[in-house]
Amino acid sequence: MIHITRRERFNAAHKLARPDWSDEHNKEVFGKCSNPNWHGHNYELFVTVKGNVNPETGFVIDLKDLKDLINREVIEKLDHKNINLDVDFMKGKLASTENLAIAIWDELAKHIRGAELHCVKLYETENNFVEYFG
Ligand code: NI
Repeated sequence: MIHITRRERFNAAHKLARPDWSDEHNKEVFGKCSNPNWHGHNYELFVTVKGNVNPETGFVIDLKDLKDLINREVIEKLDHKNINLDVDFMKGKLASTENLAIAIWDELAKHIRGAELHCVKLYETENNFVEYFG
């Protein structure tokens, strides 16, 4: 069993605010992340899969296939988008890094073939990241 990771990056806007709370309450809980006029991040996504090395190819998974899958199912839907408004798999969810990592896992898990999804690691800033193992 070996792990292999592909990194991708995307830029997106969001805000942390519950529609059922007042602006004041959102501000209390989420601080400047609740700014009604949005703010953006340069996200960094690490997708790790695991499996056995195929003796014929020396690969766990063809990284080109993994890259294409991540781009098609995740990056194209998020890059230069508003996470709260534009992204089908985030509809009705609070656009936190935690919820985004879980949603990305769910999108990728539907399509991964040949290796098993192990971890979705998502950096929102250099200093803040989450890891989700399913
Ligand atoms: Ni933010």
